[in-house]
Amino acid sequence: MEAIESQPVAARLSRSAIFLVATLNEGAQSVQAVREFCADMAAIVRAIGFRDPDGGLSCVTGFGSDAWDRLFGAPRPRELHPFREIHGVHHAVSTPGDLLFHIRARRMDLCFELAAQIMARIGAAVTVVDETHGFKYFDDRDLMGFVDGTENPVGRACAEATLIGDEDPLFAGGSYVIVQKYLHDLPKWEAVPVEQQEGFVGRRKLSDIELPDGVKPSFAHNALTVIHDENGNQLDILRDNMPFGAIGKGEFGTYFIGYARSPSRTERMLDNMFIGHPPGNYDRLLNFSRAVTGSLFFVPTQTFLDDVAPARIDGGPGAAAAAAPAAPVAHGSLGIGSLKEED
Ligand code: HEM
Repeated sequence: MEAIESQPVAARLSRSAIFLVATLNEGAQSVQAVREFCADMAAIVRAIGFRDPDGGLSCVTGFGSDAWDRLFGAPRPRELHPFREIHGVHHAVSTPGDLLFHIRARRMDLCFELAAQIMARIGAAVTVVDETHGFKYFDDRDLMGFVDGTENPVGRACAEATLIGDEDPLFAGGSYVIVQKYLHDLPKWEAVPVEQQEGFVGRRKLSDIELPDGVKPSFAHNALTVIHDENGNQLDILRDNMPFGAIGKGEFGTYFIGYARSPSRTERMLDNMFIGHPPGNYDRLLNFSRAVTGSLFFVPTQTFLDDVAPARIDGGPGAAAAAAPAAPVAHGSLGIGSLKEED
């Protein structure tokens, strides 16, 4: 039986990243172009990555709910749905996005080249709705000055947190990803005393040490985003946030990206942040950070992408489904061997 290989969800801690979100244009030609591209994607990444083997180039491709139906039809990943807007104390917007390319490398030129090659192939079939170039900022800090990513799960715990297992056997080894682009009001943030900022985040700013329980407020970011199942087990996600910005425009931001085996994990965290837990006890970081995008994507396995066959161009809506690859059969392996940790 063919082993299932996951996409490189855990290829994190890169110095550079490009987050490319696109919508799929109307028409069967667009569907055809993207489907053809799916099966070639791995070869394109390999060709560019091989030019600097130490560059750690990787790409994760995700598909939005509507795009999944147009491109692949049934069967559908069980929990795939459009991003749920949240109207709480603060507002989490839902914005268009059919395709996500999460491109990471140690060098921006590798990311840039891959993004360019992707668009050379499917540029006529898609419309880019957001392109964000992220960079590593000192010791993995966000532009608010705090180290971001410390409590991410690693190794087996990371695969356990991010890759679908028996709960959806047809899509085992896949993942869900939610992205949100946040813009910070830095002058307002910098006017807040550091000790109060530390209470909002739940960690010390300089040392990155977590605040002790008696000191950490219940609205601290790392209090509201720690969630548990009914048996008291912590439910993790994998984040690979990146700073971005444009000095001339006064733009300072964090691109949030969270992978999870179920989108409900990230959605619960978002509810806690935007509505509050209990309601009203919301995340004070949102007084300084505004979400300007929000989209949810399914990340199929690499095996699924490799097996996508071109759609029949004349076939109408059913044609894509007819030519969809057979969903992989679950077989115990989650493709963990394909995950790589980078230094
Ligand atoms: C403005 C956007 C955001 C910023 C600047 C930010 C920043 C941070 C920082 C500095 C930490 C502490 C260090 C760490 O453990 O990584 C953290 C932790 C965390 N954040 Fe965020 N974050 C943002 C948005 C989000 C969102 C939208 C979610 C989920 C929906 C989220 C989930 C988490 C989780 C799960 C942790 C780890 C909690 C723990 O286990 O201690 N963050 N974030």
